[in-house]
Amino acid sequence: MERRVPPFWDRPILAIESSCDETSAAVVVGREVRSNIVASQIEMHQKWGGVVPEAAARAHVESIVPVIQAALSAAGLEKVSAVAVTRTPGLVGALSVGLSAAKALAIQWGVPILGVHHLDGHLMSPWGDPSLEGLPYPHLCLTISGGHSEIIQVTAPGEYRLLGETLDDAAGEAFDKGARLLGLGYPGGKAIQEAAIGGNPHRYKLPRALRDDPFHFSFSGLKTAMLRLVQVEGSALDVRDAAASLQEAIVDVIATKAMQCAGRTGSSAVTLVGGVSANRALRDRLAGLCAQNGLGFVVPPFSLCTDNAGMIGLAGSMRLAMGERGDLSMDVSPGDSLPGLME
Ligand code: KG4
Ligand code: ZN
Repeated sequence: MERRVPPFWDRPILAIESSCDETSAAVVVGREVRSNIVASQIEMHQKWGGVVPEAAARAHVESIVPVIQAALSAAGLEKVSAVAVTRTPGLVGALSVGLSAAKALAIQWGVPILGVHHLDGHLMSPWGDPSLEGLPYPHLCLTISGGHSEIIQVTAPGEYRLLGETLDDAAGEAFDKGARLLGLGYPGGKAIQEAAIGGNPHRYKLPRALRDDPFHFSFSGLKTAMLRLVQVEGSALDVRDAAASLQEAIVDVIATKAMQCAGRTGSSAVTLVGGVSANRALRDRLAGLCAQNGLGFVVPPFSLCTDNAGMIGLAGSMRLAMGERGDLSMDVSPGDSLPGLME
């Protein structure tokens, strides 16, 4: 099948991301991520075991200027030709910090500004890998993060059809909540991955919800099962085996549905994006299954998996090349739908 590359803007863009707990700025030219600086608030939120919106917004205020300066200086530039900024979805206070900075710079430099949807950023993140030569359209994109578990069909560059989503928790939340129950801290995905090394993934039986439904996820039963496991086993619980079993349950569900979905929709390639795409076990399982089934498989570089401005710059670059522009009256929104989403 014919492989295509989306159009990209050939001039430098400053991208800003501040939707949750990372303050990030990047410089992107075309599809090349020239710099990508991320200031994480993880240590601060660790104290409370999760993101506190007011504290997140305040930390963004403190970091935004130095992070932008660092991104420009790492790219060797003092100004750019456009500013792209995450406008939705996310925490309103946090998003507002990024948008205000973006507007100020767009006015100062006299350049266009473009509001970007956070998921459009995740969906475009694989293009930050220069070795990706093209993708067939349509293809499937598994968008799996702390806030989303979605199966999206990418019908053309920047055009999407939502095939399925979670009925309750996102997969990243299942990792985060499981990690908290196991005393492994926040954020949970990486902690579970590390704790699972050498553990027995079949030691504890955990549920796989909606096994025969290729299009929907449900992870809340997994959280309840983990809580029960911790209560029943008490001090006899083997944390390594429990972490490995939880990771296996999540990987198994995502990989099974991806293959069912690819079969039903006649897809010839699958991409995996969002924070959970950093998970080694999930990458390996999907790579193996896709190879077995003759499907292409693409993941973003690790630096573009969890929230970062590089991916926002890639989405901005594509949409600017398509002629899209924002304006200075635009505002943030906690949850607008993805642009280019078809029924
Ligand atoms: O994309 P992201 O940074 O933020 C959202 O848009 O939600 O995703 C964050 C999520 C968290 O739930 C985190 O636990 C998970 O991604 N995550 C991982 C790994 N690294 C981050 N999950 C599994 N394995 C990892 N290595
Ligand atoms: Zn994200």
